[in-house]
Amino acid sequence: MKVLVTGGAGYIGSVVAARLLEAGNEVVVLDDLSTGHADAVPAGAGFVRGRVHDAAGLLGDALRSFDAAIHLAAKSLVAESIRHPELYEENNVVGSRLLFDALASAGVRIVVFSSTAAVYGEPDVVPIPESAPCRPLNPYGASKLAIDEMLAAAAPERGFAAVSLRYFNVAGAYGPYGERHEPETHLIPLALAAAGGQGELQLFGDDYDTDDGTCVRDYVHVVDIADAHLGALERAVAGRHDVFNLGNGSGYSVREVLLRVEAVTGTTLPVRVVPRRPGDPAVLVASAALAAERLSWVPRRPDLGVIVADAWAFARRRGVGAA
Ligand SMILES: NC(=O)c1ccc[n+]([C@@H]2O[C@H](COP(=O)([O-])OP(=O)(O)OC[C@H]3O[C@@H](n4cnc5c(N)ncnc54)[C@H](O)[C@@H]3O)[C@@H](O)[C@H]2O)c1
Repeated sequence: MKVLVTGGAGYIGSVVAARLLEAGNEVVVLDDLSTGHADAVPAGAGFVRGRVHDAAGLLGDALRSFDAAIHLAAKSLVAESIRHPELYEENNVVGSRLLFDALASAGVRIVVFSSTAAVYGEPDVVPIPESAPCRPLNPYGASKLAIDEMLAAAAPERGFAAVSLRYFNVAGAYGPYGERHEPETHLIPLALAAAGGQGELQLFGDDYDTDDGTCVRDYVHVVDIADAHLGALERAVAGRHDVFNLGNGSGYSVREVLLRVEAVTGTTLPVRVVPRRPGDPAVLVASAALAAERLSWVPRRPDLGVIVADAWAFARRRGVGAA
């Protein structure tokens, strides 16, 4: 297949592009490098620098040659989205609408989209099924839900074979591809940076209604996430929009993650407990039963120790802990 990967210079997109290439696909990355890195685009992939908003103009007639698009490009910082909701509307929602228009005009009908657990907000039921109500707690989650809804409408109207993959907490690395967010807000890379001597780790709230008082999340390996996209490309159905949660179905508390980071790195982490962040649910764990059934998706790297070890190997490559 020839696949357009938007956001392929970012963390997850670079792994998606790498796994697509390994499986024998042709890949072109479209990325404006607003948060991504040109050197994260895998060798062997084409690269077009620009916004998804301008896909029609940037790719021109070449857009017709694609079989599918995987749309990962987005802004994804919750706090920034609360401060500047207009950026999330303009970048994520408007950009996706223009991209889907361009794809439809060019006859590219298979679309796989990066949605998120953040669309659910505070869940009533855990593990969370796809049928749970969507009540996003911030403009980032709301922007992703708006795009899911756009695809739900576009599938029957435009003949899209559309899939939204709702990732839970993506973590780990794949050789040279890993998390390089700036600013970093994700627990594992922040804890690894602290383990490598780059300051203390802030723990946001230890008074949640969980076993040890810290938030519980479902950490899923980035390679397992990437491989779900390959399954979705194959199994997307024309005229339909399907939604799948992607997680391991088991939760780890912040304190459990930090213990695993200490074990992998052989350090004692400097941790400071600070107040809760607004809008952080106590527990977010996926039910990924539907992805197992319909995409034959079974996470191959569910072990948190493996996830942390792979992320640590990536951090070491980038000089963390090298003092
Ligand atoms: N990391 C997670 O745990 C997680 C969880 C759920 C969902 N997601 C979603 O997965 C996707 C990838 O996340 P990530 O962690 O790899 O983020 P990232 O910031 O590393 O990657 C996003 C990429 O998109 C590019 N981009 C942003 N806006 C663009 C635009 N308008 N046009 C072209 N390129 C643009 C950026 O330059 C970057 O390379 C995002 O859509 C995010 O919302 C991530």
